[in-house]
Amino acid sequence: MRRPFIAGNWKMHTDRVSAIALAEGIADQIADIAHIDLAVCPPYVYIDAVGRAVAGSKLGVGAQNMYHEAGGAYTGEVSATMLLDVGCKYVILGHSERRHILGETDAAVNRKVHAAHQAGLVPVVCVGELLEEREAGQTLQVIRTQFEGSLAGLSDHQMTKTVLAYEPVWAIGTGKVATPEQAQEVHADLRKMIAGQYNTQVAESVVIQYGGSVKPDNAAELLGQPDIDGALVGGASLKADSFLGIVAGVKA
Ligand code: 13P
Repeated sequence: MRRPFIAGNWKMHTDRVSAIALAEGIADQIADIAHIDLAVCPPYVYIDAVGRAVAGSKLGVGAQNMYHEAGGAYTGEVSATMLLDVGCKYVILGHSERRHILGETDAAVNRKVHAAHQAGLVPVVCVGELLEEREAGQTLQVIRTQFEGSLAGLSDHQMTKTVLAYEPVWAIGTGKVATPEQAQEVHADLRKMIAGQYNTQVAESVVIQYGGSVKPDNAAELLGQPDIDGALVGGASLKADSFLGIVAGVKA
């Protein structure tokens, strides 16, 4: 059985005070939730403070990126071990903003995914097509290329410990959410790709989140799809109420 997983990607938002308040506001309300994994991913510089604020609660903490090397002369970069050291359990890798604004390639994402596993972090690996790719009928091919490139060389065990996030780029921060049918179709395709490359048992155990304009009022329908196991939430994760409203959309 796959456990639903809802995570907030705070991107480059919040400040020290509001980050702690937001995390505490969520952590305070989830003490009775046992069937869902929950996490927030603050900017690097607030991870430590947020981790301390929610220590002992059911709210996990993740980072939004990392570097693949374990340490050394890599100015400005942060390693998987450093993230673990400040309380991270998860790391988002290959987010579309990193791919399209910062030029991150599948090969770079793949190095990070391996480094995350080696250190013991759970990578949340994002894939998703651009609007023009969808309109040109290339969605499946784009997703397949990202899947094969970003996840190359994982063992069965590592694949089962990897979270995928399907985030159509045209739905991120635009208010244009994929329909439940559009999202389900890609999630089912992703699961078939996992089954093809690994096996059915691995495919059935991998958690695949949907991301892109998830809000309290569309969460239940998206999360009700058979292959949608959770959500990676941007804008609506910046207020405790709306994040919790999305969590409420997960079936008990
Ligand atoms: P929005 O929920 O703001 O569309 O962002 C989605 C996202 O990019 C999560 O990683």
